[in-house]
Amino acid sequence: MLHERIPDLAKFVEPDRVRKEVYTDPHIFELEMERIHERVWIYCGHESQVPKPGDYYTVQIGRQPMVMVRGADGAVRVLYNRCPHRGAMVCGDRFGNTGEFFRCSYHSWTFHHDGSLRNIPMMESGYAGTRWGRDNPDCHIKPAARVERYRGFVFASLAQGGPTLKEFLGESRIAFDDMCDRAPEGEVEVVPNCFRVIQNSNWKIFLENQLDALHPSVTHQSTGRAARDVELAIEKKTGKAPLSYHMLSAFATVTIDKWDAFQTLNYPNGHCILTGYMGLRPKDPDTLEYERTMEKAYGKQRMEEILGVNIHHVLIYPGLSVQSPLQQLRAVRPLGVDRTLTEIWHFRLKGAPEPIYRRALAYYNLVNSPSTMINADDLENFWKCHQGLSSDGGDWVSFHRHYGRDIEKAGMVETAPGMGTSEAPMRNQMKAWSRFMTAER
Ligand code: FES
Ligand SMILES: [Fe+2]
Repeated sequence: MLHERIPDLAKFVEPDRVRKEVYTDPHIFELEMERIHERVWIYCGHESQVPKPGDYYTVQIGRQPMVMVRGADGAVRVLYNRCPHRGAMVCGDRFGNTGEFFRCSYHSWTFHHDGSLRNIPMMESGYAGTRWGRDNPDCHIKPAARVERYRGFVFASLAQGGPTLKEFLGESRIAFDDMCDRAPEGEVEVVPNCFRVIQNSNWKIFLENQLDALHPSVTHQSTGRAARDVELAIEKKTGKAPLSYHMLSAFATVTIDKWDAFQTLNYPNGHCILTGYMGLRPKDPDTLEYERTMEKAYGKQRMEEILGVNIHHVLIYPGLSVQSPLQQLRAVRPLGVDRTLTEIWHFRLKGAPEPIYRRALAYYNLVNSPSTMINADDLENFWKCHQGLSSDGGDWVSFHRHYGRDIEKAGMVETAPGMGTSEAPMRNQMKAWSRFMTAER
């Protein structure tokens, strides 16, 4: 039926523009969930969210309520949060510990951490002679078709077939390598808990904004200017303002013309990298101590390589925005065509001095949290976009900026020198969207 309503999805996307219905049509949203979010690899969480056996965290994949759980065998699994009896969610809390097994609160069916049935009250008398029994696969909690981890970050795919996680991520794996390599122990651990923000806009509007190098100095200019004023006043008084002011003032000092100097690298499957723009290696005593710890762990040459990685942001399509040098990520969970949940997480570099964690925390609070002006600036734009796109004021969204000038390389697209504000990331995401939506199944 949906196919009759939307006969040719490919017509909704042209290389340089996209139909507005892609953002506003609830039927297209349903198809996106079926063909993209419930097929490709979706980020579930970090393994340190579930350190002990029985620890679980619920997570939404497409339209499916799922639960990530650590078993007594140490394995991290992802199961549908659905009891095979009458369908109740087995975990009603967002996270917790199940103890030695899951127990459904409705009729007390119990399940092992891998989802297999443990017991049903009075099973023998109640089910003798019926077709219900342990041999019936329908009496166990259904697991996600595939679960894989990369450097502690857990992903699940609800489709049996398709590329491995490593193949799917391709070059975007650098997000996790960069984050973990910056830890003297080579690992990060999550800081419980996350911020949650619900945006009244389509999920793609958020993703397109992540590597939109044109918007920061416009959208966030007022916040940047206010921070710059205070930063200058502190500098005048004490000689040096804390790095946290720079995190905000950069939105004013890196003016619109300067953004063209940066670069985006666009990869298959819709993933993109934005190169770094903020100096994150000041010569303050905390940074120098951190560098000494890193040198001890890796040797001078490798330490320089690790700290020299010049990335600000990695977008992993279709639902993850990672800021690896500051150890944070935002996971995007579409809730409806005009409602999107973002989970904003940050991490600790294992083995790094405490002030380096405080720096990541400052960025988390000042730039990514729901209480910062930066986040509010963006949310207002997202809402305005969704409202405008729902109107009859036009049929297309424009992605023409620097179109035709990007550099096509083997398997990827790079913005040309001096054209960092190219809308290549949006074109690249929509190209992937189109391919996922129209792929043969
Ligand atoms: S619905 Fe779970 S035990 Fe009945
Ligand atoms: Fe922004």
